[in-house]
Amino acid sequence: MNPKSNKTFITACGTDVSAAADFLFQGDVVAIPTETVYGLACNAFDEHAVSEVFRLKNRPFFDPLIVHVASMDRARDVVSELPDVAQKLMDAFWPGPLTLLLPKKSAVPDLVTSGLGTVAVRMPAHELTLELLNSVKFPLAAPSANPFGYVSPTTADHVMSHFNGRIPYVLDGGACNVGIESTIIGIENGKPSVFRLGGISLESLNKVVTGLQLEILQDKRPAAPGMLKSHYAPRTPLTIESKTDFLNGYKGGKVAFISFCDSFELEGVDVFVLSTSGDAAEAARNLFKVMRQIDLGGYERISAERMPDIGLCRAINDRLQRASVPADHSNQ
Ligand code: TXA
Ligand code: MG
Repeated sequence: MNPKSNKTFITACGTDVSAAADFLFQGDVVAIPTETVYGLACNAFDEHAVSEVFRLKNRPFFDPLIVHVASMDRARDVVSELPDVAQKLMDAFWPGPLTLLLPKKSAVPDLVTSGLGTVAVRMPAHELTLELLNSVKFPLAAPSANPFGYVSPTTADHVMSHFNGRIPYVLDGGACNVGIESTIIGIENGKPSVFRLGGISLESLNKVVTGLQLEILQDKRPAAPGMLKSHYAPRTPLTIESKTDFLNGYKGGKVAFISFCDSFELEGVDVFVLSTSGDAAEAARNLFKVMRQIDLGGYERISAERMPDIGLCRAINDRLQRASVPADHSNQ
């Protein structure tokens, strides 16, 4: 029995990096801001704290965690080999929303990697979290700070809505300015493959590396953990359809329509525009906030249009697709 199970806290929320560091030194879990989404962080070398992260999130142990490091040099604390292509990607995109799957050092507990020989590692681009990483000097294992399967949090308030009273501290770094999770890249025989679309677009990656493959896994229990078919899902049922199909099929009821850049008026329907100027990065920044807002708004269902398949809109389409698959709510 885990002695910390069901421990309760008065959760503080603020910008005090040394308070957050003290809790981490004690083996506690704290929420951290990153440029993508907030994470639920602990000392990656402390197996007990790592198991607490899984418990808090209600996350299955087969789904491994990302390890956050303070610099490229510190990545060597957790990674045993650094292929040239990984170095090239780090040089181009770190600090930033790019996670690399690399051979792990034995110091990284198997619990972190779900027994895999690779560890997911990234250097986040957020001043407060980099300060925290530099102050604790150990890497931080951190999944997104939401209950497993639900929409990721992009503000400290989102995190509080899930973990108030269950963790001691939320480091408040404001609203995340990328707003969707990092892009995950694995490397086999020197060749990079994208395992999760995210905050670095395929266009940007293709400028730096050649022969990029897409390995966006869709199985319910993926052979290489990483992508579950149903994920990032609001509680309100979501369907992807064009505006025309939606308007033709609308038969009443309180419905939320997620649109890329255009609005329209129809009684009973609220339109949530992701970016009035049609900017993919702005749309990505707004996506999870809008999904959470809709969940609180008492809508019967969500209809979302497919975004144009360019830049960060591809990652939005991926999230909408996973959100549209009915979830097994027993694990949320
Ligand atoms: O932007 C992000 O990546 C955020 C922030 C907090 O850094 N983190 C995040 O973590 O999205 P999480 O746990 O929600 O998603 C991590 C994904 C999971 O789908 C997991 O299966 C995959 O990374 N993953 C982690 N280690 C892996 C490994 N060794 N091989 C394959 N997939 C891995
Ligand atoms: Mg997540």
